[in-house]
Amino acid sequence: MKTIDQLLAEGVAGRRVFVRADLNVPLDGTVITDDGRIRAVVPTVAKLAEAGARVVVASHLGRPKGAPDPAFSLAPAAARLGELLGAEVAFATDTVGPSATETVAGLADGGVAVIENLRFNPGETSKDDAERAAFAEQLAALADVYVGDGFGAVHRKHASVYDLPALLPHAAGYLIATEVGVLKKLTDDVRRPYAVVLGGAKVSDKLGVIDHLLDRADRILIGGGMVYTFLKAQGHEVGRSLLQEDQIPVVQEYLARAAEKGVEFVLPVDVLVASGFPDLKTKAPAHPDTVTVDAIPADRLGLDIGPETCKLYASKLADTATVFWNGPMGVFEHPDYAEGTKAVAQALIESPAFTVVGGGDSAAAVRILGFDENAFGHISTGGGASLEYLEGKTLPGLAALED
Ligand code: 3PG
Repeated sequence: MKTIDQLLAEGVAGRRVFVRADLNVPLDGTVITDDGRIRAVVPTVAKLAEAGARVVVASHLGRPKGAPDPAFSLAPAAARLGELLGAEVAFATDTVGPSATETVAGLADGGVAVIENLRFNPGETSKDDAERAAFAEQLAALADVYVGDGFGAVHRKHASVYDLPALLPHAAGYLIATEVGVLKKLTDDVRRPYAVVLGGAKVSDKLGVIDHLLDRADRILIGGGMVYTFLKAQGHEVGRSLLQEDQIPVVQEYLARAAEKGVEFVLPVDVLVASGFPDLKTKAPAHPDTVTVDAIPADRLGLDIGPETCKLYASKLADTATVFWNGPMGVFEHPDYAEGTKAVAQALIESPAFTVVGGGDSAAAVRILGFDENAFGHISTGGGASLEYLEGKTLPGLAALED
């Protein structure tokens, strides 16, 4: 994989460099609530601009349906990138149309432009190879060189991630190099004990990684909505909690395999329950009750891990050498259900282990909850991407940069 430093050594002055970033940041209207992903691409963009390249930054944001949708405009992200760079950033209001062509043509050496959300064009995410290739050709016309730095999207076989690098000389940006370097420490030569904390809503999203980790991790701690499928698989009643009935046999098989292999599978001992989902807009007090996992009332749903579980999880993380954490422990966006996620974040900070926070949601959670991101070993910008990497899958966006 060619590095950006090799590319810089060859000289980029006056060349149009297409940087595929991941500027998929959480927004409240047009207000960015966590700019971590924008900050993460600044070193690459700044270095290219300093070297006199004409930098064309492109990204997706959200999941628009292949047509322009103002709710998913990259304009706020472009403005924030300009603030972080301390330089003017031009913005094209389309992806490969007249605005993009004109904006890129207007770039001076060292100038930076952002083009509009790539997913406003159906070719970006198309499953049809020809449709994707056609869009990649149009994107290629905007640049002379490609730099892949959108780590959060490297698991997507999309036109700008997978097809475009094949059409241009290409290199990996600083963010991708850092992310891959960290993930290698979790796969190639992991320091033990190695604990993995998995949260998030759906167990089905985490099956691949659990399957893989059963051969690699020493301890797996479970939180978030997927807790209830595990509890049900152990014979507990879970009331109205999130449940994926169809996954129960798979989960039972995992629990059995973990026991066979001596992998410690840690589940909550208590949870916070309420009669409904909290109001995330008003954040009105939810008045949850704490119950042990064998006493979840039939008319309640679980929304966070409980205080005893927080202590248990902190103790299970205290003596580890490596920790990977993906997914919040509860509905952390509401203050009544943020304690579980805070407890795990705090335990990671206090642990002497090399700690990696993987994933859009958990990475945003630690920042939104006010933790110092420098207190963690690494905060990944990729959720699905880091999980698929840990699963041992070939990631299209990394494979495309290899050759
Ligand atoms: C992410 O948020 O994980 C990345 O930006 C990828 O987004 P996607 O899941 O919509 O492809």
